[in-house]
Amino acid sequence: MATTLLTGIAELVTNDPAMAEAGTAGPEDGAASGSDRSAGSNLPGAGRLGLRTDAAVLIDGERIGWIGSAGAAPAADHRVDLGGRAVLPGFVDSHAHLVFAGDRAAEFAARMTGQPYAAGGIRTTVAATRAATDERLRANVDRLRREALAAGTTTIECKSGYGLTVADEARSVRLAAELTDEVTYLGAHVVPAEYADDPAGYVDLVCGEMLAACAPHARWVDVFCERGAFDADATRQILRAGTAAGLVPRLHANQLGPGPGVQIAAELGAASADHCTHLDDADVAALADSGTVATLLPGAEFSTRSPYPDARRLLNAGATVALATDCNPGSSFTTSMPLCVALAVREMRMSPAEAVWSATAGGAAALRRTDIGTLRAGARADLVVLDAPSYLHLAYRPGVPLVHAVFRAGTSPIVPSFPAS
Ligand code: NIG
Ligand code: FE
Repeated sequence: MATTLLTGIAELVTNDPAMAEAGTAGPEDGAASGSDRSAGSNLPGAGRLGLRTDAAVLIDGERIGWIGSAGAAPAADHRVDLGGRAVLPGFVDSHAHLVFAGDRAAEFAARMTGQPYAAGGIRTTVAATRAATDERLRANVDRLRREALAAGTTTIECKSGYGLTVADEARSVRLAAELTDEVTYLGAHVVPAEYADDPAGYVDLVCGEMLAACAPHARWVDVFCERGAFDADATRQILRAGTAAGLVPRLHANQLGPGPGVQIAAELGAASADHCTHLDDADVAALADSGTVATLLPGAEFSTRSPYPDARRLLNAGATVALATDCNPGSSFTTSMPLCVALAVREMRMSPAEAVWSATAGGAAALRRTDIGTLRAGARADLVVLDAPSYLHLAYRPGVPLVHAVFRAGTSPIVPSFPAS
């Protein structure tokens, strides 16, 4: 297996506090150290980033073989000088809905001139998705996958939820499984029009024949627990059925208003409660006290012109926070994790360090993965090289395509000539 040594790294984000070089950050929150070698090193949350300014990284096949001071680097088959760029773990986008057809640009435009967002818009995409061929859906997924990769996303979760028949949900999870190992069965996205008079019958279908058809291709089960979608009883019933079929729960919770979702997520040991926009003190405490990650999706608030979730409140309470795109044609049609980082910093009172951690290690926690989200020997070699000297630029230069190169499992698919030998 060929080895490649990356040098010329102005700043390396490892997300491993043990890797921080002496003097770059305090153990808790990056308390000032007197060193200004790394611009982002003495800011709140920087201690968790495990920053280094002297580092080299050895990629050995699909894995990271070694990380340490450039002066102590081992020999390698290839050497790549990154010329003073920052390197961080590939983004882990733990919440996306990529299997769909059509778009809802007109609905977006109407929202920007005053219409509210409503869960019912999902049915528009359901009709387009049912009518689409497998090839069309596959081409759409592939376009979004490449777009995400070019923006630095090396792991992406993908939900079903725009089919809502047994056959259409089953093909959605199959197509998602062609993209990623992180497939989520979301038959409970909304009650489809043909079940409008029999929502309980639809819940039975989701828990029965549809689950049986989808579970072999999925890892997770999700429910849109919200007024206009599924209530507390249906949510529990569906998550329990999914668990019995071997899936692990995650949940759309408290997006459009207060509700029981976050409490149910914590009670059932969900990996993640996603959105978390409308929380009371008990919800915040439940997230802080459970292992359930709070996944915040600022693209949705941006695209629905809604108030953002209060990340600061969750962080101060001790909850684990992830950031993800929620990429979908209705409420957040973006694949850009850098946009989510910038929004989290500007609109949600996260420090740049906290936002970068949440978009990488936080996403890995939300997917219960230990092989991604952190750069250490043995981890999958998923790295983003920025055309910037520091991770700070992800928030400081919003909207600018700063990704210079991406390595996924040790190869660099978006810059085919990279690395040069
Ligand atoms: O996460 N909230 C439910 N699902 C999506 C919206 C889907 C749609 O509007 O098509 C979300 O925001
Ligand atoms: Fe979503």
